[in-house]
Amino acid sequence: MDRILLVGNGGREHAIARAIKRSRISHELYAFMEAKNPGIAKLCKGFFIGKTTDARLVGKFAVNKKIDLCVVGPEAPLDAGVVDELEKYGIGCAGPTKSGARMETDKGFTRELLEKYRVRGSPAAGVFTDAKDASEFIDSLGKPVVVKPAGLTGGKGVKIVGEQLKDSSEAKEYAKEVLVKGVGGLRKVVVEEKLEGEEFSLQAFVSGRKVIGTPMVQDHKRAFANDQGPNTGGMGSYSDSGYILPFLRQEDYDDGLSIMKASVEAFRKETGEDYRGFLYGGFMVTKDGVKLLEYNARLGDPEAMNILSVIKSDFLEILERIVDGTLKDASFDKKATVCKYLVPEGYPVSPKKNELIEVDESAIERSGAVLYYASVNESDGKIYTSSSRTAGLVGIAETIENAERIAESAVRFVKGKLFYREDIGTKALIQKRIDHMKKIRGHL
Ligand code: AMP
Ligand code: GLY
Repeated sequence: MDRILLVGNGGREHAIARAIKRSRISHELYAFMEAKNPGIAKLCKGFFIGKTTDARLVGKFAVNKKIDLCVVGPEAPLDAGVVDELEKYGIGCAGPTKSGARMETDKGFTRELLEKYRVRGSPAAGVFTDAKDASEFIDSLGKPVVVKPAGLTGGKGVKIVGEQLKDSSEAKEYAKEVLVKGVGGLRKVVVEEKLEGEEFSLQAFVSGRKVIGTPMVQDHKRAFANDQGPNTGGMGSYSDSGYILPFLRQEDYDDGLSIMKASVEAFRKETGEDYRGFLYGGFMVTKDGVKLLEYNARLGDPEAMNILSVIKSDFLEILERIVDGTLKDASFDKKATVCKYLVPEGYPVSPKKNELIEVDESAIERSGAVLYYASVNESDGKIYTSSSRTAGLVGIAETIENAERIAESAVRFVKGKLFYREDIGTKALIQKRIDHMKKIRGHL
């Protein structure tokens, strides 16, 4: 009997738990969560509520439950060294060490790594610890830039000229602020040329030299329909019935995956360590090809809900193969998926927390959609919102359009002070992406 520990309690982790439970390998699942996610709790033999960044506490729980394998969902526990701690006890982890997690937690490390090993796909970029050097670089580029704190900012640190920054003098000011305040915990800033194109997320299972790609997904960062409003953790996402999104091409996928393979190899050469776990590349397809915007050392949230809803391979077996280095391949049902996140009113600026929600789980099941609880807390059998995204609804069908209808039809079964984006996965939105890509590639 394999004893598995899942760390985290969001929608991504509910999807991980559900995929593990479908395994034919005999197992018991435990969870270490920051709040009681009722979906995960129901799938577990036992769980503990505590800080997931308290590596020693996670270690204690794992030892106590005689855990064989641990899978870590979010970046914060990876950054806090949860994997390093568990490995001390001989517990195998599907997730990188603190050192491996730098692919996400230190954007400066990653850009320099890719440059040193001549991995293609980076925009013109510089990494700075001195504000004057950053300013000079902004001037020398002579075009709009993007300023990124090197450390973790929960997706809220990146600022772009023409969006959050008016011009290059505001970009310089922001770069200086990042260095003075240590935004994201590091006094280091990455400045990049601003790119234009369509973004895609490519998530991979990684074990040392083996990097297995999964279907492309597109997330939607803006809070409101038509990509309006403030940036969020992601309001919803879709994938198509093959690996490729309707507005992108096989070669975009191949380029993304080969950049990821080269990056994992560069990491191994640089550190002498094997990278294990998940690696998720945020890419943009531009007129000059596929460019890497960032890496995450984990699955995406919501993107994990797309791919894990249609994974055909035994996911627990994949986790075991990630740990023991025998990863071979992964297959997925040829189905499109659309995930819509319901989020608290006021999210992301001032989300209405601790609000009661009512979920008709059996009606959702009848609608054909899959429900993933996210940032909620169950107490005395009632479910309350928390400050982040509340619940994801995933529709699965032959086409994105039909998957969208299924997700949409289930929305009314989650009641509370919530909102969501009606446009994600609609024909009109996909057409907009197609037109945009045609323009970018110069075919209009
Ligand atoms: P990151 O955290 O690096 O993925 O950045 C967050 C978001 O900022 C991305 O999803 C993009 O929408 C945008 N972004 C990041 N880098 C660039 C870039 N070089 N050019 C244009 N947009 C970017
Ligand atoms: N979908 C955005 C993220 O997981 O970072």
